[in-house]
Amino acid sequence: MAAQTQELEAQLDTIRQEATQAIAQADSLDQLEQLRVKYMGKKGPIPRVLGGMGKLDPAERPKIGARANEVKEAIQVELDRQKTALQAAAIAAQLASETIDVTMPGVGRPQGRMHPLNSTIDQVLDIFVGLGYTVAEGPEMETDYYNFEALNFLPDHPARDMQDTLYLPDGNLLRTHTSPVQIRYMEANDPPIRVAVPGKTYRRDTVDATHSAVFHQIEILAVDEGLTFTDLKGTIKVFLQELFGDVEIRFRPSFFPFTEPSAEVDVQWKGRWLEILGCGMVDPNVLKAVGYDPEIYTGFAAGFGVERLAMVLHQIDDIRRLYNSDLRFLKQF
Ligand code: DAH
Repeated sequence: MAAQTQELEAQLDTIRQEATQAIAQADSLDQLEQLRVKYMGKKGPIPRVLGGMGKLDPAERPKIGARANEVKEAIQVELDRQKTALQAAAIAAQLASETIDVTMPGVGRPQGRMHPLNSTIDQVLDIFVGLGYTVAEGPEMETDYYNFEALNFLPDHPARDMQDTLYLPDGNLLRTHTSPVQIRYMEANDPPIRVAVPGKTYRRDTVDATHSAVFHQIEILAVDEGLTFTDLKGTIKVFLQELFGDVEIRFRPSFFPFTEPSAEVDVQWKGRWLEILGCGMVDPNVLKAVGYDPEIYTGFAAGFGVERLAMVLHQIDDIRRLYNSDLRFLKQF
């Protein structure tokens, strides 16, 4: 009898030893769960041992039962201990993998910046908005009427020549200047008017250091009662001073079909006079074309070449640099 009891006790001890060893070696929570099912489950080795108790003296049975409970408890303690250890290891591994080494050299991300043409346009518009102007835009594809006729170009004016104007197959054209927006804006609004118009313009020019077939202009237009050439001059002077600082400027008489009188303005740049804009008092014929009474209203207008302004502002020697998207060039702004 005693021998049989000892035999069962020895079996339980073996189970405990095996389980303890296996649990200590488990290296994942999955594996640990499999071991729990294997040793603690209803089909595990302990119920099998208990099944052998039938042959025992009833007085011996409680001993084996107690021993089996001890073994179960001991295995459970091992399972819990290993589980805690594996969880701690998993957290430690996650922390280690997510650690940010703040001493590592950074990854350079090139910073984009404003193209010099866009920043020049913004600078110019900021100044005019500060003077009370509204910003407006118009279409790049125009009709002969808006680009020329309403602006008082005579039918045989050389600017209509195929040499300068890019005509489209449907009879429309690509605007050669931003001045047509003067007409569109006046048609849609009543005076008083203060408007600044940025935009792309097109001409059949051969590209060289100072010419491009596509370029940018900013047009300004003011129409009100009692505006005079003095207002035009003062506005242009303030604008150029804001943009360039204290530079010498001069007004030179000129001709444009849509202004009378007309002038061109030059700034001193690198020891010579550089033409920078055209301007003048809006021709009465232009006011009539939009239904304004030239006996009541007068106006002034001006058109700037944006590329010219950018070249002066940033000491750029060749207009083509503004278009070929060379990052070595663009990075400098
Ligand atoms: N539209 C003219 C051009 O492209 C520039 C210009 C001159 C605009 C005089 C004006 C102006 O508004 O008054 O050459």
